[in-house]
Amino acid sequence: MVKKRLIIAIDGYSGCGKSTIAKDLAIALNYTFIDSGAMYRGITLFAIQNNLIKDGSIQNEQLIKVLGSIQIGFSELPVSKNHLLLNGIDVEEEIRTPEVAALVSKIATIKEVRQKLVVIQREIGRNGGIVMDGRDIGSVVFPNADVKLFITADNTIRAKRRLKEMKAKGIQTTLKAVLQNLEERDELDRTRKESPLVQTEDAILIDTTDFTREGQLKYILEIIQGKLKV
Ligand code: DC
Repeated sequence: MVKKRLIIAIDGYSGCGKSTIAKDLAIALNYTFIDSGAMYRGITLFAIQNNLIKDGSIQNEQLIKVLGSIQIGFSELPVSKNHLLLNGIDVEEEIRTPEVAALVSKIATIKEVRQKLVVIQREIGRNGGIVMDGRDIGSVVFPNADVKLFITADNTIRAKRRLKEMKAKGIQTTLKAVLQNLEERDELDRTRKESPLVQTEDAILIDTTDFTREGQLKYILEIIQGKLKV
């Protein structure tokens, strides 16, 4: 019997460890991992590269006009090296800069941007066997997902984790700046009109503050094993 290949939706605030969980799960289950935030970052990078940000404001109308010409995809590499491609170019490093982080939540409020990316996300997940993390995966992209997880963690822990990641990449910033950026993004993600971040009723809440990476993976795999038996 062929095992059912599930759709696993992982949502939550920035820096709660969603992508780490999603990646670890995808490796453990031999599924595809998609970091949907990377796709919003890709559009943001495009806007920066094409002078669609003027004095810190996004030129929404101009961006919407050229959206059709922007190609967003992922490299066909193993899960752990699944890189974002913007118009066919690997931009995995460029999308992780503080400049992109500062603008991406605003880009993610644009309805047309969301509509475009949701179509791509659904297409990638069409046949199941996918772990996708983001903000609206369980609520909008895959409302019928087999497993929905909503991840939270203490704010300072989140900022420390993100700072460590950025430092490892050679990006110079401070804990205070990272924390401020996280809190600003939380506020925008939670209060935006288009697909705000919400915990759906059927999502399982997981607080990663006191979990080790191995501990959280084991815990979540047990939940998924339960679903596979159903
Ligand atoms: O997960 P991340 O920090 O890389 O996400 C970057 C931004 O993109 C974040 O501000 C929220 C937004 N986002 C979204 O609105 N919907 C998603 N499915 C994923 C990310």
